[in-house]
Amino acid sequence: MSDTRETRGELVGDGCGQQHYISLVSEIISQQTAEAGRLPGVYIMTFGCQQNEADSERLAGVAEAMGYVMVDRPEEASLIIANTCAVREHAEQKALSHIGRLKHIKKENPAAVIVACGCMTAQEHRQNELKQRYPYVDIVLGSSGWQRLPELLYRRLSGERRLFCLDDGGAVPENLPVRREFSYKAWLPVMYGCDNYCSYCIVPYVRGRERSRRPEDILAEARELVGNGCRDITLLGQNVNSYGRDLGTGYDFAQLISDISAIEGDFRLRFMTSHPKDATRRLVDALAKSDKAARHFHLPLQSGSDKILKAMNRRYNRANYLDTVAYIRERMPDIALTSDIIVGFPGETDEDFEDTLDIIRRVRFDMIFSFVFSPRRGTPAADMDNQVPGEVKTQRYLALVELQNAISEEINKRFQGSVVRVLCDGPSKTDKSMYGGRTSGNKIVYYPGEQADIGNFVNVKVERTEAFALYGTKTGEPAADNR
Ligand code: SAH
Ligand code: SF4
Ligand code: F3S
Repeated sequence: MSDTRETRGELVGDGCGQQHYISLVSEIISQQTAEAGRLPGVYIMTFGCQQNEADSERLAGVAEAMGYVMVDRPEEASLIIANTCAVREHAEQKALSHIGRLKHIKKENPAAVIVACGCMTAQEHRQNELKQRYPYVDIVLGSSGWQRLPELLYRRLSGERRLFCLDDGGAVPENLPVRREFSYKAWLPVMYGCDNYCSYCIVPYVRGRERSRRPEDILAEARELVGNGCRDITLLGQNVNSYGRDLGTGYDFAQLISDISAIEGDFRLRFMTSHPKDATRRLVDALAKSDKAARHFHLPLQSGSDKILKAMNRRYNRANYLDTVAYIRERMPDIALTSDIIVGFPGETDEDFEDTLDIIRRVRFDMIFSFVFSPRRGTPAADMDNQVPGEVKTQRYLALVELQNAISEEINKRFQGSVVRVLCDGPSKTDKSMYGGRTSGNKIVYYPGEQADIGNFVNVKVERTEAFALYGTKTGEPAADNR
């Protein structure tokens, strides 16, 4: 007999269903609190991208609404949540090893509830693995974890056996609580899921179809953020450029950029991520007109070879990509461009890789994130028979990083002596007297700072530059660009 139950989600669009369970769990928690004499803790570990970080802020909000308090160590928690990623094998192994370490915690504290959610656990084979090899994990659900936690937790706390739930990518609830990590910068999800099915990518399988939030809900959240002093808002979605398509009202991402830009206040507006096939002139025009849009465009290229782009199902080619870049630079000459590149996609020859290096030399990105192709089970690329050997992938990766470092170093040299406007994040991890922050173009800047700078804009005169950072001192001089 199996000790598990399968469930499928029936999500309620406005989050009301979960509100009911939040109250039910709160009742159990207040009883437990009265008995134990202290509030139960929740510990959340987050793997993967900004979307997962945003989801974890919602998990934290929901947990807090149920009566938990955030704690820094899993040993102190009654509820432990691992919000996982599946984008590459390494990400999955990392999440599994962290979940593995929870075994001894459960042994010490059998009443602790362990939840695994996110992209990795949205896959049936990973759910089965957790079912069989990680018996101390109580609840397993996919990327809708934050939307369904109260219901599943209530069921587990009321005596049900271990719960396993594969996501259905249903409607996204509004009005669930959020506990934001920072007050001065915020993730603002505008849509969930992805319809693109790039042949290497697991995301559409684990996050479901594209679902856009309503513009009025996003605008209300943006207004509230700005009203509360937020200075940096990042709109999130796997492909923000197709925002609104599923709403069928004609309202699109360009319109959303314009409407959020119209909110009064001193804040920067960012977005992640854009698909080059949908980076329209209309969007670029909206960004160029906006006095809030940060001068940074992340436009993942993936490969510079038309043959590989086709095999990746990216639906643009070198020429389209270069056209888009040219238009972005025509409208916003000062913009910082960044990108993602995958090396070692199946069938990638030395010539294909040369094409990638060539386009990188032409575009001269400010920075790129380079990845070695990692076959993902269930995606078409994983089954292609012309896989590239590991050592070739590594060589290409190193060559790519070397080229990009040289370009980033050259680009950053141009900032020498200039004044940049920095949103301060606080002291650096390695040297507490040096404070770090970001420019509009998303460059990291370090300078001798003070506590009061955190969350505020500071002007810094750049004295030294490296490939990944600028260094300087605070100045009363105005910044070259006031964004
Ligand atoms: N939706 C975003 C990116 C999501 S994943 C976009 O389309 O840009 C972030 C990056 O991880 C991708 O841009 C890609 O470069 C990389 N990536 C995705 N799947 C991968 C895989 N199987 N192996 C290696 N890198 C991968
Ligand atoms: Fe993955 Fe492509 Fe969707 Fe990005 S656009 S999440 S790479 S399928
Ligand atoms: Fe990972 Fe899921 Fe993000 S697979 S990169 S956490 S969308």
